[in-house]
Parts: sequence; structure tokens; C-alpha cells
Amino acid sequence: MSGAAGAIVLAAGLGTRMRSTRAKVLHELGGEPMIARTMRALAPLAPAPLVVVVGHQGDAVAAAAGEAARVTGAPLTLEIARQAVQRGTGDAARCGLEAFAPDFDGDVLILYGDMPMVRRATLAAFIDDHRSARADVSFISAILDDAGAYGRVIRDAEGAVTAIVEARDATPAERAVREINTGVYLARAPVLRAALADLRPNNAQGEYYLTDLIAIARRGGLTVRAWCAPDAGEFAGVNSLKELAQMEAEIRATVNRRLMDAGVTMIDPATVYIGEQVEIGPDTSIGPNVQVLGRSRIGAGVRIEGTAYLRDVEIGDGCHLKLGVRAEECRIGAHSEIGPFAHLRAGSDLAGHNRIGNFVETKKARLGEGTKASHLSYLGDTEIGRDTNIGCGVITVNYDGFDKHLTQIGSRCMIGCDTQLVAPVKVGDDVYVASGTTILREVPDGALCVSHHPQKVKPGWTEQWRRRHADGVVRDGSD
Ligand code: UD1
Ligand code: CA
Repeated sequence: MSGAAGAIVLAAGLGTRMRSTRAKVLHELGGEPMIARTMRALAPLAPAPLVVVVGHQGDAVAAAAGEAARVTGAPLTLEIARQAVQRGTGDAARCGLEAFAPDFDGDVLILYGDMPMVRRATLAAFIDDHRSARADVSFISAILDDAGAYGRVIRDAEGAVTAIVEARDATPAERAVREINTGVYLARAPVLRAALADLRPNNAQGEYYLTDLIAIARRGGLTVRAWCAPDAGEFAGVNSLKELAQMEAEIRATVNRRLMDAGVTMIDPATVYIGEQVEIGPDTSIGPNVQVLGRSRIGAGVRIEGTAYLRDVEIGDGCHLKLGVRAEECRIGAHSEIGPFAHLRAGSDLAGHNRIGNFVETKKARLGEGTKASHLSYLGDTEIGRDTNIGCGVITVNYDGFDKHLTQIGSRCMIGCDTQLVAPVKVGDDVYVASGTTILREVPDGALCVSHHPQKVKPGWTEQWRRRHADGVVRDGSD
């Protein structure tokens, strides 16, 4: 937003029609809180200041808004204004304006936090239109077939906007109007301050309506402009869980279409849930029941068989995720084979050409190139070199009841089946560990490490045992 321009996002309401104890803007769409999407559209315009008005679950809303603004990388100072009692959108806007410097006289963009589909380019076009038309007050309208509960845009005989009337306050003639208020406004700060001071709660809901700004401005002889949005769908508000689910389905279908156009195969797109921020390379194929969320990046030629939950993961080219993988906040280097039924927790970092097989769990585990753990292992808080083989059932014993400790294993090792490594402990390069070993102390490079108990053998023992039990009578063992 060139020139001195600030913005206010209204997000204090609970959203009673959601029938939920969670604030509306915290409900998730595409795997992230709804307000994150609005913030991402707004933040690149670099408004200063950027004020978010919070009330219900204010701290959580502020945190979600801040996080979303931060990931855009735009230079921002986010201010939080608190609206203690939700007395309407006009009152919320007033709270937001109080966070501005008293002498701020630039443009202020106001929008609602429950507007998850809005795009940055649309906001920018609206701001340009307002400035080139030299209007005093502008807002974005849209034409709908069914105007439902939206505020109606009322125009006079010359076509000039005179007011916005809320559906529940409208006459039947006004209700028939199909041009609606989307809830995005732009005016200079002094104009807003004066108009908001004039709001009165004389309407069906007894609230201070921000929409009354339009009639007040007109009465004051100011020029008011309704900029009609080319795509009304961008301004669909979410007011119920049903609308949330519909929007989720729309977003999902759009994302899936875009990815399929870019060369991603989906066996059944209806069961593939991919976040909007996710990037996927061509020739990757995705089976049924797959979720890829957050800021995940998946390379080219990756095969995801199905039933996977992947969040904030980076997966290199040519990987194969077999059925049943859950991975979060981790990196899987190129040409790795994961699963079936593998669990990669936060901080797992696989260099490439790795194999993580069935029932293996990793956490904060750094594995060098070519290292494998094919069956039934727990690898937590560990650094392992390259081309090491972790046998079946190996466990890093990382937790002493108070702290987590590190296990270091070198390159080209053979860690035998059922080995426990009691951390903190270090195993050098080229080490062989016999199966069933409990490693308590450092093992130097090139060594063999064994901790077998002496093996006892009792010939003929089985037959005796079975004879004692054959008729269910426990004998005294003398025969
Ligand atoms: C509002 C508009 C309506 C418009 C519609 C677009 C008003 C009076 N009406 O109606 O003309 O067509 O949006 O979606 O503005 N909020 C606060 N504090 C409050 C009340 C609301 O911060 O005291 C916030 C909410 O968190 C929400 C936004 O303002 O993000 C809009 O409030 P909502 O109650 O959803 O307004 P609508 O009835 O949808
Ligand atoms: Ca709304």
C-alpha cells in the first residue's frame, strides 16, 4: 500500500452461528486457522500500522494472525487492539483506530477476519481504484444470485450509493437487491474517526454497525464509491460449520486441480487433502487418503501409496512412501523408501537413499546417506552416519525420566537386531554390534561389541516338559 496507509482486521467476534466455543477465525481451512488466509492476502501490501482487533480467545487469535503475517516475510509491525465487549463491527473498527497514532491521517483499509478467500491482487486493485477516483470512502461490493444474510447496497436513482442496509433491517424491496457488502472499506483516518463517532446502535441487533459509515459519509457530502468485485466468491464469509465444510471442499478441489494441471497424479482426488502452501513436483503420484499440510514441499517423481499424514515435511525427488506414513516437521532426502507404517516425528532429517521400514519411529534423528532401519525400531535423539544398517528392534534408550540424551553412531556400522543403546553413548565408524547387545559405553572405530549372556543348553528338556503337562496333572518331576 503506497503512501501512508494502515489496515484494521476485525476478528473479535465469537461467531455464534458456528455453534462452537472456538472463535470463528480460529476454525481451520486447508489445515490452518481461517484468519491466516486473510492475513496472507493483506500482509504483502505492507500496511503500517497493521492492527488486528481481537476479543474472543484474543491471545490465540493474535498469535495466529502474527504467525501468518510473519511467514509472508513482509516488513510489518502487527498491533493488537482489544475489543472487550463485542458491540458490533463499527465499535470494533473504533477500537482498531485507537491503536493508530492520533495524528495519523493516511488511508485506512478495514476488513473482516472471516474472509478467507480474499486475494492480495484484488485488495490492491480496490485501493488503486479508490485513489484514482479520489473518493472519500470506498468499499467492495459483489453481485450474488442469492444475497442471503449479507448487507445490501442501496443506490439512488442516479446509481450513486446511499447506504448499506443489513438484511435483517431491510425492507422487502431492499432485500431484493443482489449487490451486497463484502466488508472491505477504505477511507482516510480523519474521515473514519468522524464517522465512527456518529454511529448509533438503532438497528435490529442493537449494535454499532460499521456499514452505517456509508450513509453518514453521504449525509456529510462526501463521495462514496462501491467497487464491484469481479469474483464474488472471494468474499464468501463463513458463518456456519456447514459453510466451513463447503469452503474447505472448494479450496481442496481448486488445489487438486492446480496440482493435477502441473503433472501430479491423484488416484482419487476426492480423498486427497493438500494445503494451499504445499508444493509438489511433476510425476509425483498420490494414492487415496493422503493429507499433505502446512509448508510441505514434495519433489518430483515421488510415489505416495496412500493413507499418509504429512505436515511441514520436505521430501526429495524419487522417494517412495509406502502405505501408512505419518511425518511431521522433518526432511526425507531424495530416493528414500519409507514405510509401510512408519512414524517420522519432528526433527527427523534423512540425507537421502534411506530406508525406514515398518513400525519404525524416528524423532530428532539425523541419518546420513544410505542408512537404513528396516523394521521395528525407535530412533530418538540420535545422529547416525552414512551407510549404517540398523537391525530389527534396535532402540535408542534416550530418556532417563528427566532428560533426553544423544546417541551417536558412525558410518558403515552393522547394529545387530535387538540392540539397546543407552544414551548418552557413542559408537564409532565401522563398528559391528552383535544382536541383543546393551551398549552402555563408547565403542571405538572398527570394533566388535558383544554383550551376550552365556548360552545354556539342556538336551531333551522339551520332551520332559510336555510329558509333565500332557494329562494336565503336574508331576513332581522325579520321573
Ligand atoms: C457483516 C456486515 C454485512 C456484510 C457481511 C460480509 C456489518 C454490520 N455487517 O455482517 O454488511 O455483508 O459482514 O460478510 O458490518 N466483529 C468484531 N467485533 C464485533 C462484531 C464483529 O470484531 O463486535 C468481527 C467479527 O469477528 C467478524 C467481522 O467483524 O470477523 C464481521 O462480523 P459478523 O458478525 O460476521 O458480520 P456479518 O453479520 O456477517
Ligand atoms: Ca460474517
